[in-house]
This record gives sequence, C-alpha cells and structure tokens, in this order.
Amino acid sequence: MYKNYTSLLHSLEDGILTITINRPDKLNALNAAVFTELDIAMDEINENPEIKSVIITGAGSKAFVAGADITEFDGLNKEDAMALAKRGQDVFFKIEHCSKPIVAAVNGFALGGGCELAMACHFRLASENAKFGQPEVNLGLIPGYGGTQRLTQLIGKGKSMELLMTAHMIDANEAHQLGLVNHVTTAESLLQRTKDILQIIQTKAPVAVGKIIDCVNVAVVSDSAYTNGKSGFDKEIEAFGECFITEDMKEGTSAFLEKRKARFIGK
Ligand code: COA
Repeated sequence: MYKNYTSLLHSLEDGILTITINRPDKLNALNAAVFTELDIAMDEINENPEIKSVIITGAGSKAFVAGADITEFDGLNKEDAMALAKRGQDVFFKIEHCSKPIVAAVNGFALGGGCELAMACHFRLASENAKFGQPEVNLGLIPGYGGTQRLTQLIGKGKSMELLMTAHMIDANEAHQLGLVNHVTTAESLLQRTKDILQIIQTKAPVAVGKIIDCVNVAVVSDSAYTNGKSGFDKEIEAFGECFITEDMKEGTSAFLEKRKARFIGK
C-alpha cells in the first residue's frame, strides 16, 4: 500500500484491507486530504491482487465520520461548491462501483458526508452506539455526496424525506429497522463481525461477486454513463454469460458434482 497517507490508517490481513479514517480530534470529518487519500486508496484496491475485500471505519470510539469538514466551506462560491460535491460524488462512485466488496463498519456518528460514505459502501454494519443522520439542513444546505439519492434508495422516499428535512439523528437499532444497516453489534465485536462476513464472501468466486456488485448497482444507479443505456435485467443476462465462461464457474460446478469444496482462482 501507498505509504504516505496522513489521514488514513490501513492494515491488510487475510485479504481484508481495513481503512480507518484517522482524524479523531475532528470526529474524522472529511476534508480535501481525506478525499485525496481515499481516491488513491481506491486505485490501490483495484490494482492490488492481495486485497480481496475492504472495511471502512473511523478512528476512535466516538465517530465513524461526522460529515464533510465544515471549516472548508468558508468562502466557496456556487462553482466551488459544485466542484466540492462533484469531487465527493466521484470518490464515492469509485467505492460503490469497486468490484471487490467494501463494507462500512460504523462505529459512532455517521453524519452528513459520513452517512453518505457509509451508504456508498456495498453494505453496512453498526455498533450499538452508532448514530446516523443528514444534518445539512441545519447549515442551510443539502447533502452533496449522493445522500439524497442513496438514502432514498436504501430506506424509501417517505422516511428519506423526513430524515433529510428534519435533520433528525437515528440510532443503530432504528437504522437497522429501516434497512440502512444490516447488523448491529457491540462496539468491541464490530470489526470482527464485519471480517467474518467478508471471509465468507472471500470463499466465493471473485468474478461472480464483482458481477453481483455491478448488477445490483444498475438496479439503483440511474447514471446513464454507468448503465450504458442497459436495463438491470439486460446487464444481468450479460453478466450471467460472462460468469459462465470463467474457470471459477467450471470449478464451482465440478466441485459441487464431485462433492468437494471449490477452490476459486478469480478467473
Ligand atoms: N467538520 C469540521 N469539524 C468537525 C465536524 C465537521 N463536520 N464535526 C465535528 N467537528 C469537530 C468539532 O468542531 C470539534 O473540534 P474542536 O475540538 O477543534 O472544537 C471536534 O470535531 C469535536 O466535535 P464536538 O462538536 O466538540 O463534539 P460533540 O460531542 O459536542 O458533538 C457532533 C458531536 C457530531 C454532534 C457535532 O460535532 C456535530 O454536530 N458535528 C457536525 C455534524 C454535521 O453537521 N455534519 C454535516 C456536515 S455537512
């Protein structure tokens, strides 16, 4: 991994890269440096075959990420603000469209850009003390890193409207009931529980896992540059065909018929 990160910690164990946003004194708020480093990290994740899957979490016990760094908002004009939103959206698109599974381990406040970062991940686990919200309206703003879109996709229009307009914070259990997070754990077991799930996924055929990410994304991403004008059903047919010609498909079906465990190679 790139050695000179100043705002991210990283560790690679059993193919699982854990990225920790590391500005605990600022509740891991997302400043320009964090975005630059997340962007570089995504390139490394895509290129490094030793990385099979990824966890994103926050440093300290209080916050996952408490939002975009508000101190960087000062003096921005409309174009600057649009560029800031575009930059955030581009990095979060890289996360959402990565062919390797990326899971958010939400260990405290996930507010504003923090909630948006968690929602850009493929799915989310939360510790019992996690709190989610989109408080931008308190600042006279709206989410800019995809929050209006992904929150609506994840929890539905009515609840999304309410959370966005009230800036109301919800706890981990409510986030679980709404489908925003898949599991709630103690703070101590959050990372291990996330790793357990990723270890299961890592036993599956990597090409097929990547195609699942691709097809599920088409179901919710309306960006035509990404969908290439294809419906999700068309995309699924194509991806199904592409899986069929992989060595892992031959291995998986042979292993089933021979009553043994499959050994996938990612091709
Ligand atoms: N941007 C920049 N700095 C932030 C930040 C953000 N989004 N969120 C927290 N911080 C900083 C605080 O300014 C404070 O810094 P300081 O010690 O230099 O004064 C430090 O992190 C600790 O935060 P603090 O507010 O003192 O902690 P708290 O426990 O009293 O409150 C929150 C926690 C999360 C409720 C509160 O920090 C908050 O509301 N943050 C902003 C959330 C937000 O609006 N996010 C959306 C941004 S678009």
